[in-house]
Amino acid sequence: MKELEQSLSTSPDSALLLLGDILGKTILHPLCVKYPPSAKYRRCFLTELIKKLESTAAEPLDELYEALAAVLKEEESPHCYKNYILPTGDTVSLGESTALISGGTTGLVTWEAALALAQWALHNPSVFRDRTILELGSGVGFTGIAICKSCQPRTFIFSDCHPRVLSQLGENIRLNSLTPEPDGTWSSQTQSQGQEGEGEKCQNTKVIVAELDWSSVTEKQLLGLRADVVIAADVVYDPEIISALVGMLQKLSTSRADRKAPEVFIASTIRNPDTYQLFQAELDKSGIRWQTIPAQSSCDFLYDVQPNVTILQLFL
Ligand SMILES: C[S@@+](CC[C@H](N)C(=O)[O-])C[C@H]1O[C@@H](n2cnc3c(N)ncnc32)[C@H](O)[C@@H]1O
Repeated sequence: MKELEQSLSTSPDSALLLLGDILGKTILHPLCVKYPPSAKYRRCFLTELIKKLESTAAEPLDELYEALAAVLKEEESPHCYKNYILPTGDTVSLGESTALISGGTTGLVTWEAALALAQWALHNPSVFRDRTILELGSGVGFTGIAICKSCQPRTFIFSDCHPRVLSQLGENIRLNSLTPEPDGTWSSQTQSQGQEGEGEKCQNTKVIVAELDWSSVTEKQLLGLRADVVIAADVVYDPEIISALVGMLQKLSTSRADRKAPEVFIASTIRNPDTYQLFQAELDKSGIRWQTIPAQSSCDFLYDVQPNVTILQLFL
């Protein structure tokens, strides 16, 4: 500050530059990164500061331009926090995007099928209690977190393939006081499962976050997960990903060794009947039988709309 006062009396231009430097550093200060002022506020502030510096014919600092570029990028994919109250009274708090598609993925928001699948799970906790659950395409994690909080699974394996989704998913899991196992644990599921006592009541669900891409996951990796139940919400939305999804379900059915095949439940919003029929036709072609599960008459998490959500049970 002393330096600033001195240069104000001698050279107002360099004082402005110094001010920009101080403010620029403040904006990049770790505390500000943790508790940032809104992106809109930072954008207005930086724009004004750069304009002022430019009007003095002084060269504004590169850091200010970089900070402005970062804020503009942030505004493109707005972030928010949502709280969902479960019928049990528990709350699921999630960091989500406010845009349906952001960062090149649909996985940063909670979709209606995720709510409907959680609703069904909460009415059927015995399907999940004390069992190992694998969720495909978990997105930001609503269904899995609701199940962990209400249905006492033994192990819950969240999975997705998109790096930004996986990072937000990990944050959301921690935000809800669940502790994911360190990275890499999912490939060694087989050993750790074997150490647990048969029929032991599970008070603390073991939580795993797996980077799992349907098109590249191997039968061996799937076998290692030892899933009793496989669930997914809103994964039948694009004809291009259906063959990878069905291919992975086929691998699940052939990778069970001497174990019982997992029970599989997939909730979908039928937006385009052709896409949904394609999914059913691919299941038929690969010999996977399916039946529609009667939907709940109302959804506790949906207040105004009742979307067209269907849950299929698959028999691998
Ligand atoms: C429409 S979002 C649904 C997210 C969440 N289940 C929900 O309903 O709120 C579809 C999710 O599937 C994931 N996904 C798409 N293709 C995938 C693939 N090949 N392997 C794994 N996950 C995939 C996306 O990353 C995304 O998170």
